[in-house]
Amino acid sequence: MERILRNFFLFLSKNRFFTKLAKRYGLRFGAGKFVAGETVPDAVKTIQELNDKGMSVTIDHLGEFIDSESEAREAAENCIKAVEAIAEHKLDSQLSLKLTSMGLDISEGLVMENMRRILDVAQEKDVFVTIDMEDYERCEKTLSIFKSLRNDYEHIGTVLQSYLYRTVGDIEDLNQYHPNLRLVKGAYKESPKVAFPDKKDVDDNLKKIIRIHLLHGNYTAIASHDDEVIEYTKKLVKENNISRDLFEFQMLFGIRVERQKELVKEGYKVRVYVPYGNDWYGYFMRRLAERPANIAFVLKGVWGK
Ligand code: FDA
Repeated sequence: MERILRNFFLFLSKNRFFTKLAKRYGLRFGAGKFVAGETVPDAVKTIQELNDKGMSVTIDHLGEFIDSESEAREAAENCIKAVEAIAEHKLDSQLSLKLTSMGLDISEGLVMENMRRILDVAQEKDVFVTIDMEDYERCEKTLSIFKSLRNDYEHIGTVLQSYLYRTVGDIEDLNQYHPNLRLVKGAYKESPKVAFPDKKDVDDNLKKIIRIHLLHGNYTAIASHDDEVIEYTKKLVKENNISRDLFEFQMLFGIRVERQKELVKEGYKVRVYVPYGNDWYGYFMRRLAERPANIAFVLKGVWGK
């Protein structure tokens, strides 16, 4: 049953019609549990609250399925506004973005132009930018764009997904750039031709890439709510005398909030991924797919008040 629901929510997450429809109706149906609000001031308020609790943030202006050059330029403008707000309010926050929202499906030239505009401002304001990883179809292009931007900018990182067979090769290949990488299990529906179908293999591969990247001496963001992965990392860094300046734990806004606080209390760096904006639909469906039990949590939010 869980697998059926997972596939159902992942199918919905890729549906352009529902994405556009949902965008029109604002933060409804419980998405507010996982999304900080619709505007920059909403996001600033949430970041301030998290910073006050000792947590760092990475902010994400939600946007998927961009069809036109003007939408992509507008998305880039929103990212620049977010970077400026971070600097203006002296927030402890980075920026995360998706290349599809910068126009990846339109043209590489457009993405590069938008990314350079954002990165120029981010560099000036000292704000780090992470390129989120999307589905397998876009992985190669995303990595190639990351590499060319990394040649010119220091403040840029990206994400690798442990469910892909190719990832161990990618982490070795990227080592020449000494990159700051976020390591995750992966959130999209992929074919067994390219991704491990069994969760156990995905979990094991996440531990493997965390180990490789940390032992290479590269900054590592361990982005997982999985206690086994968190405990594995704690043990690994202890055994290998890896400094706490070289890694951080990351979790999503609204998920395992108590665990986030515990890690801060234990003295670990914790960064919360805070999405905001009115294009919340695909993000919200992927969170439901990860844990269909969240539907009860969401329904409670809608009708349980
Ligand atoms: P797993 O799914 O195995 O869950 C372990 C435990 O965590 C569960 O048993 C449950 O207790 C809890 N949990 C997990 N998900 C939950 C949820 N939605 N609600 C409540 N509890 C939940 N993916 C991607 O493809 N590209 C990307 O760029 C990113 N970026 C990213 C940033 C950050 C900061 C995080 C935390 C995650 C991502 N992801 C991502 C998503 C990632 O790939 C993955 O889908 C989720 O993190 C869920 O996997 P876990 O490692 O948490 O473990």
